[in-house]
Amino acid sequence: MENNQEVLLRVEHLCQFFGSTKAVNDVSFDVKKGEVFGLVGESGCGKTTTGRSIIKLYDITSGNIYFKGIRIGAGLMSYRVAIREAKKSFKEKAKTADAASRSALKSERDRIIHEQKKQMKAAKYDRKHCDKEYAEQQVALVKGKYLPLISAARGEKQRTLRSEYRNELRKAKKARLVTKIQMIFQDPSASLDPRLTVREIISEGLIIQGEKNKELINQKVDEMLETVGLVREHAGRYQHEFSGGQRQRIGIARSVIMQPELIIADEPVSALDVSIQAQVINLLNDLREHLGLTVLFIAHDLSVVKYFSDRIGVMYFGEMVELASSDELFLNPLHPYTRSLLSAIPLPDPEYEKKRKRITYNPLAEHDYSVDKPTMREIKPEHFVKCNQAEYEKYLAQLK
Ligand SMILES: Nc1ncnc2c1ncn2[C@@H]1O[C@H](COP(=O)(O)OP(=O)(O)O)[C@@H](O)[C@H]1O
Ligand SMILES: [Mg+2]
Repeated sequence: MENNQEVLLRVEHLCQFFGSTKAVNDVSFDVKKGEVFGLVGESGCGKTTTGRSIIKLYDITSGNIYFKGIRIGAGLMSYRVAIREAKKSFKEKAKTADAASRSALKSERDRIIHEQKKQMKAAKYDRKHCDKEYAEQQVALVKGKYLPLISAARGEKQRTLRSEYRNELRKAKKARLVTKIQMIFQDPSASLDPRLTVREIISEGLIIQGEKNKELINQKVDEMLETVGLVREHAGRYQHEFSGGQRQRIGIARSVIMQPELIIADEPVSALDVSIQAQVINLLNDLREHLGLTVLFIAHDLSVVKYFSDRIGVMYFGEMVELASSDELFLNPLHPYTRSLLSAIPLPDPEYEKKRKRITYNPLAEHDYSVDKPTMREIKPEHFVKCNQAEYEKYLAQLK
């Protein structure tokens, strides 16, 4: 992957707390256009919450999420904390200050509060209006495409164009940026309504988007079924008539019909038989190549993401602990948690298997963060590890 590739999704200091549970705690990463970014970590480490935060199922606690350069998610906690800190710091310092410096401290405090409030307002505005901004862009695109065509055309041709234009314009006005991000879930049967036919399931998003042309909808559903390796005869059936792998294909069709630019695949093969897993992975890979999709691929172990991902982020207990290209991560795993994940992967090599020792990760024994706290640091270009200064030096030496 080239470094200068366009960033499609930027997750910046994302925090998502549920009461005292810090499900995601200060996680940052970019997903570049066209790549597969693997997000890996054991069950409960915050992967699904990260995905759900990106598709705006929550008002995130803190941090920013940018998609196609537009801020779609913005949390407020960091601004509130900064205001609280400013007030606290003023109180502390004011105790011992004389009148003149007290007044200077006060105006410094007020300046900080004013600035943070301004940013908070901007955050609230962006997360509410990101769709509006996108819809305006889409309306402009539709006008730019159709108006010249309409004025150049005559008669029947012009009437057809006019009606197409009205249809497209209506959809553009309702366009929502987040529909360009689609999520595929682990358990397809739980996410597909059992009372709907496959056709109804796959076309639902289009209808919500404002598509009214039945013929077009049916044609798209048929195309989609073929794209995901099913047949059009399947359209009239219900999900219980299908196998797990086929159901996941239906789930993929339902997402892909929305012409997403980013797919978040949340453990899409974890519930499937091993023999079926590779087929579904291959399908996702084909789709990415043919449709130019970008994929955020979530998994609980590294074996599934190894060959499929360009870059991998490893999460542990709500935090990102290591981030590197897939090759680099397998060649030079640095964080002890990454090493323990790697040691869990069996390989079809009897000699290796005889020697393979599972490493368990015990954070308290591994790190001393009592004084020097860890931060995400770049150990070598594009390889980041969460570590403190002493560990940083150790990792650098290890790479030599
Ligand atoms: N809606 C929620 N309310 C409260 N806690 C939640 C909610 N969703 C997730 N959690 C908690 O957040 C943590 C991360 O969960 P999750 O993102 O589902 O992890 P993963 O997908 O990596 O298995 C877990 O401790 C989980 O119990
Ligand atoms: Mg999950």
